Amino acid sequence: LTSQRYSVSRLPFSEVTPEDLINFQKFIPGRVIIDEADLRSHNIDWLKTVRGHSKVLLKPKNTEEVSQILKYCNERSLAVTPQGGNTGLVGGSVPVFDEILVSTALMDQVISFDNVSGALVCQAGCILESLNQYLAEQGYTMPLDLGAKGSCHIGGNLSTNAGGLRLLRYGSLRGTVLGLEAVLPDGSVLNCLNSLRKDNTGYDLKQLFIGSEGTLGIITAISILCPRKPSSVNVAFLGCENFSSVLQIFTMCRDVLGEILSACEFLDSECMRLVETHLNLTNPLPENAFYVLVETSGSSAMHDEEKLNAFLEKALDLGCVTSGTVATDHSKIATLWALRERITEALARDGYVYKYDLSMPVEKLYTLVEETKARLGSSARSVVGYGHLGDGNLHLNITAKEHSDTLLAALEPFVYEWTSRHNGSISAEHGLGFKKRDHIYYSKSREAVQVMQGIKHMLDPKGIMNPYKTIPTTDR
Ligand code: FAD
Ligand code: MLT
Ligand code: ZN
Repeated sequence: LTSQRYSVSRLPFSEVTPEDLINFQKFIPGRVIIDEADLRSHNIDWLKTVRGHSKVLLKPKNTEEVSQILKYCNERSLAVTPQGGNTGLVGGSVPVFDEILVSTALMDQVISFDNVSGALVCQAGCILESLNQYLAEQGYTMPLDLGAKGSCHIGGNLSTNAGGLRLLRYGSLRGTVLGLEAVLPDGSVLNCLNSLRKDNTGYDLKQLFIGSEGTLGIITAISILCPRKPSSVNVAFLGCENFSSVLQIFTMCRDVLGEILSACEFLDSECMRLVETHLNLTNPLPENAFYVLVETSGSSAMHDEEKLNAFLEKALDLGCVTSGTVATDHSKIATLWALRERITEALARDGYVYKYDLSMPVEKLYTLVEETKARLGSSARSVVGYGHLGDGNLHLNITAKEHSDTLLAALEPFVYEWTSRHNGSISAEHGLGFKKRDHIYYSKSREAVQVMQGIKHMLDPKGIMNPYKTIPTTDR
């Protein structure tokens, strides 16, 4: 069905034979999964919008096993889809046809942690939340956080270059990742796993793998710089009447909160309606057109509180905030964050989700949502806007009872053309995966894509790594 909806044909890779299975058993005894029921959830993406037909799932425990698997698959021309927590939102983590699934689920060991520098080295299959718990015991935290933290793997995070809720504070993985180890399609191990802050010796190869969505090899281990866990955290959840007030709040929080600002997120009233309806969450404020979540993280509660109060006073004086609530204790903070973090889940319960992840000049963010609403009228169930205000990253989501080609035609290329016209990116943080690879040209030039194709061909001449994803095979 997936291949029909997206009109893609299987490339001439080999098919898995009983002999292949015997060989895989030799590499990873007892960890070759072929039972259809066990494979089902690995063949379907988190959004339940694409489905593959893989007949085998391999669960290596270490780099050597990954190396043996890829070397073998390359020699046999067997296509491979790497899979972490399978929380990706662009259909990149599931096979399209019968690609072999290689899961990092059993590669979940911390290798080392330096509690002076904060450099953490671990296997790629560590779950983000588990790493955070491990670090919290030592007074540190991961430099990224996202709603899927309970299931996503750090290798998956690197492979998608996930942004998330604290990018505003700690920057992108392109800055915090110090090194990585990856197995190339021919089975060779590329060890760039150092933990140095500074290293200008030649090309920075790790950057190739960050955001490459499993198309160049399998990331097996990572080294990442972790900040100290802040001892004082506050969250303000604010309501406002229009998007220009949202922008005013953002400018003001950067101005008044300065270095303690750790997140600035927004959602519209439709998002609030969805989390209330589908997840039974409670809006702590009277109904507003928009809500902004501002988080501060610092090392001195008194200092932070003083700054937060100054910010709130100013916001009230200027009239850009109509109501608000502040949390300092852990459980209330979590309750407020749930209103923002769980929108993705509420949308998935609302119906079929058309998901757009766009970056653009922040003052333009909401215009697109309004134009999309006007364009779709009653043909959509919900049209919502939320996202990482501080990063100029809009999540425009549309739900409907079921997938409809007519609705899709009203959305695409409209959304992509609009974004491109405003010099935005059609994939800010989720990647291109299967669903968006052919839209790459809205954000990248022909020449840039040709260089990408050249790199792909050099590292993966047989094209076995996550085929049909990220890099278009055709020219523009
Ligand atoms: P998967 O989904 O398993 O894989 C994603 C891609 O990476 C696939 O192409 C896969 O082939 C490849 N891959 C996985 N592991 C490896 C590896 N070891 N080596 C090579 N390739 C690999 N994303 C954001 O950026 N910001 C958010 O705030 C955010 N919030 C989310 C909230 C929810 C509720 C959900 C469901 C998703 C969210 N996402 C977000 C998207 C998703 O969680 C991220 O893209 C995440 O980084 C994917 O990690 P994963 O382990 O689940 O990877
Ligand atoms: C988020 O910011 O909530 C995530 O990127 C997931 C989504 O876009 O729904
Ligand atoms: Zn996001």
